[in-house]
Amino acid sequence: MLYLDHAATSPVRPEVLEAMRPYLTGVFGNPSSHHRVGEAAAEALEWARGRVAAALGMRANDVIFTSGGTESNNLAVKGIVLAALPHASGAEGPARRSIVTTPIEHESLLESAAYLHRFHDVSVTILPVDAHGRASPKDLAEALESKDAALVTFGHANNEVGTVQDAESLIAVAQERGVPVHVDAVQSAGWLPLDALGADAISIAGHKLGTPKGIGALGVRSRVPLEPLLHGGGQERGRRSGTENVAGAVGLATALDLVAVERAQHAGAVAAQTSEFIAAVREAVPQASLTGSADHRLPNLASFTFAGTSGEAVLLELERRGVISSSGSACAAGSDEPSPVLLALGIPATTAQTSVRFTFARTPLPAGSATHLASLVAAAVAAVVSP
Ligand SMILES: Cc1ncc(COP(=O)(O)O)c(C=O)c1O
Repeated sequence: MLYLDHAATSPVRPEVLEAMRPYLTGVFGNPSSHHRVGEAAAEALEWARGRVAAALGMRANDVIFTSGGTESNNLAVKGIVLAALPHASGAEGPARRSIVTTPIEHESLLESAAYLHRFHDVSVTILPVDAHGRASPKDLAEALESKDAALVTFGHANNEVGTVQDAESLIAVAQERGVPVHVDAVQSAGWLPLDALGADAISIAGHKLGTPKGIGALGVRSRVPLEPLLHGGGQERGRRSGTENVAGAVGLATALDLVAVERAQHAGAVAAQTSEFIAAVREAVPQASLTGSADHRLPNLASFTFAGTSGEAVLLELERRGVISSSGSACAAGSDEPSPVLLALGIPATTAQTSVRFTFARTPLPAGSATHLASLVAAAVAAVVSP
């Protein structure tokens, strides 16, 4: 079996499991306990916090450990916007009650914004994206003219089509106007450096990097007021109550360190393998159309539409041939609805329903794999077109 769904999740790395093991066994303390057993756990937690902060280009105190990408995104969007609303204790100056985002974001961002709209009368401005999924700094500048934005939030790299935003320019436009920026880096963290991004808040999820599911982080610079969503014992400097997942935090820090080394070693080769695969699929499957940007994309992601098929049927045929892929986002998989991301890129609904996404691992496959895989894709598509 060849697993090509790394954008959904990746297996736990042996090094991560080994690094976590002591904190699941001998060093089991509660990091808030004031005795030796608790202090040993607290020490590990603070080591992990420092490593995660370095990867995000932030200070250790800026890092909040969460349960994963969804929680990080909820905390960023709701926490920053709620803290800016007029009734919030720390809110200063004129009312800021709008969010600016794009139509191709992960549901955890868009649904958090929708929640704020429903229950707190926050307005949500959706920037247009071009046919490749990129938002323009000019459109963002226009959207910020009304001066009531509390937050700009967008994904660094899209999970369905792999398009990488011009994050630096978008961040600069917002920050020049005094608006904090949150970047969902859940998909990009494995492939792009985050330490020089300069965003005010950054979300990451461990399970995309080789940790067990259930650990993530949100970095939020201390100058940005944040309303907590989980109330209780005041852990994580009062911003996320609940006993911390010490082993998970150590795993996340270890995974980020490994990813940084691998990125330098293998990202170029993985990108070359993906390009070879894209070219081979285009050659072998006449109706294949690449979605997303050809130039600004994640090194490991290739997604296509295969007009005249059904994406789900192609997936099943590929699985019968030993290749595990996805029809797009794991959350939407199994749904018959066309992907809102593809619709936002201007792809017609009937074509959007024919999409298949391949996401490669962090180290390249043996030479020749890309062309072999493309021939399996061609066979799967042919089986669907003429069963
Ligand atoms: C871009 C993006 N943001 C957020 C998430 C949610 O992360 P999690 O699965 O850790 O909740 C995902 C998951 O696929 C994602 O791709």
